[in-house]
Amino acid sequence: MLSHTVVQQPTGPDAMPDLFSPFTLKGVTLRNRIAMSPMTMYRSVDGKMTDFHVMLMGSRAAGGFGLVFPEQIAIQPDGRTSTGCAGIWDDAQKDSLSRVSSIIKDMGAVPAIQLGHTGRRGSEKKPWHGKSQLPASDPDGWQVRGPSPIPHGRRYTLPVQELSIIEIKEIHHAYASAARRAHECGFEWLEVHFAHGYLGASFFSPLGNQRADAYGGSREKRLRFHREALDAVRAVWPAHLPLTMRLGSDDFNEHGIQFDDAVWAIGELKQHGLDFADISLGMNTDDMKDVPFDQVGFMVDRAARVRQVVRLPVGVSWNLGLPAVADRIIRQELVDVVFLGRPALWIRSRPGPEGSLGWPAVERPVKN
Ligand SMILES: Cc1cc2nc3c(=O)[nH]c(=O)nc-3n(C[C@H](O)[C@H](O)[C@H](O)COP(=O)(O)O)c2cc1C
Repeated sequence: MLSHTVVQQPTGPDAMPDLFSPFTLKGVTLRNRIAMSPMTMYRSVDGKMTDFHVMLMGSRAAGGFGLVFPEQIAIQPDGRTSTGCAGIWDDAQKDSLSRVSSIIKDMGAVPAIQLGHTGRRGSEKKPWHGKSQLPASDPDGWQVRGPSPIPHGRRYTLPVQELSIIEIKEIHHAYASAARRAHECGFEWLEVHFAHGYLGASFFSPLGNQRADAYGGSREKRLRFHREALDAVRAVWPAHLPLTMRLGSDDFNEHGIQFDDAVWAIGELKQHGLDFADISLGMNTDDMKDVPFDQVGFMVDRAARVRQVVRLPVGVSWNLGLPAVADRIIRQELVDVVFLGRPALWIRSRPGPEGSLGWPAVERPVKN
């Protein structure tokens, strides 16, 4: 006869966390350590989310995620990736956002919002129409703006208009208005998007920012945009709710953001009300050297270092779809929350030498 041993999990404040332990940050408790990472779906109309988003986010919340992000939500119309992307610059967009946050909450997860501006990487076609930017003359295109008049390169070739100081102030004002609306729409976790080559990332990277004024030059000055954005958001976002950031922590290019600079930056931003850092890639150039895109959890070490040095809770994504790996990095207290992107959709991660990078290994041919 088989006997079952019931393993008692230690409880109390000293218990080692695992993937399914609750996580409390300020006044918000996630039921587990698994977040659905923000992913742009290109299915909004006039910046408004649709039934598609209610279905997708509701189903993932019902499926058990502790924290659920819809896609990056643009703070200004030209902060979208494409005209099919969601926004929060207008009160008319609030109803659709409230529908999404309320289904997430009804299903037991915490509704999170990622506020962003795509900067010089905006004005894209919808991906199923091809991977390129649309010129300002196209009805679905616009003049992209950034810290300096430097196109991103490769498939992002549009000329970039350098932001004036007045425009930078307008963007910070837009962050604050967006944060106020996000709270009114019921979101309880706010992430500012300063990664992936978008506006915040390009301000921090020498590859995108060659300004000679107070917003460019030394790393201190290249971080000014972020300090002011956080201050603007913190002033309106309730103190009991987490204010978090996705930071492009490494450009994988000798002329771009170096990881040590990112560790320093997160420490600085902690002084401006940052409660949690989500560590990702800079992507300020397509000319990235030696990014181990095929490796399981290749950003985990970096996130763990931020956690240790800055003493701030951290999250991380990139190839963490294997449950045993996700559980291990929580148990080893390397990170606090695991973000899942492609494994939460229908997209296969790239197969690599270590087996599954997202979908279960059984999906791929087994080599004998
Ligand atoms: C279709 C798609 C859309 C994405 N859109 C966003 C986005 O809006 N904001 C963002 O910060 N990251 C975005 N990402 C990146 C994911 O959030 C995630 O960081 C990345 O896919 C790595 O995690 P994974 O290996 O679990 O997929 C997107 C990824 C995918 C696949």
